[in-house]
Amino acid sequence: MTLTEMIYHRKSCRSFSGVPVDEATIEAIKTFPLNPLYPELKVHWDIVSRDKVKCICPWTTPQLITIYAEEAEGYLENIGFLFQQMDLYLQTLGLGVCWLGMGRMNPKTTTQVEGMKFVIMLAFGHPKRDHLRHDPKEFKRKPMDKITDRADPKLEPARLAPSAVNGQPWYFTHEGDTIHVYCKHKSSPLDAGIALAHLYIANQNTFRFFKVEGSKNVPGYTYIGSLSI
Ligand SMILES: Cc1cc2nc3c(=O)[nH]c(=O)nc-3n(C[C@H](O)[C@H](O)[C@H](O)COP(=O)(O)O)c2cc1C
Repeated sequence: MTLTEMIYHRKSCRSFSGVPVDEATIEAIKTFPLNPLYPELKVHWDIVSRDKVKCICPWTTPQLITIYAEEAEGYLENIGFLFQQMDLYLQTLGLGVCWLGMGRMNPKTTTQVEGMKFVIMLAFGHPKRDHLRHDPKEFKRKPMDKITDRADPKLEPARLAPSAVNGQPWYFTHEGDTIHVYCKHKSSPLDAGIALAHLYIANQNTFRFFKVEGSKNVPGYTYIGSLSI
């Protein structure tokens, strides 16, 4: 399956065999190219063993991706954008994956990464069973009219994107060929970055992201940026 096809089948996995992912696959994961939303923002990530993290969920995997970033404007949406590409890629390898907002680094077994803040982690590993979706109806998502000012089939990949507690805090408005992206106040822009990643993957040759000065105010939402696809 391609990354674009995976948008319509992916699902968070929370049931794993516990068998570690082999070295060759880990190497492929480490070298898979991820494209940033903000190329100038510094990001650091590692693949670490279970003992390096603290997480209350009992199903956590033997290996995890831990993600750090320099705190700067846009860093959260940048992380969502980068690592949603990883979420899709891991599933094309036949692995299961789940973003883990509740995970923390274990201070007893890790040292801080200088100048970087720990942001989030992804649990990944061999799923116990096929966990992908085979019917679009299996996605529990807001209807199109709740996430945009105009029904737009081009936004379907964003509508299906995962988010923390399935909050789907994104909203899109249209102005000519430009689509403006907003995120609900108090929700994490990381989720908006995830939705943007799906729009990027589905439109890799045409996707362009930029900021527009004086963009329209949407009450209850923060402006994230604008795109054309
Ligand atoms: C930023 C973020 C943090 C998340 N944190 C957790 C978590 O700590 N534990 C968990 O079980 N699922 C977590 N999830 C998974 C979401 O609950 C899941 O993506 C959402 O319910 C949609 O379901 P789906 O991914 O199967 O489509 C997180 C997802 C995102 C995007």
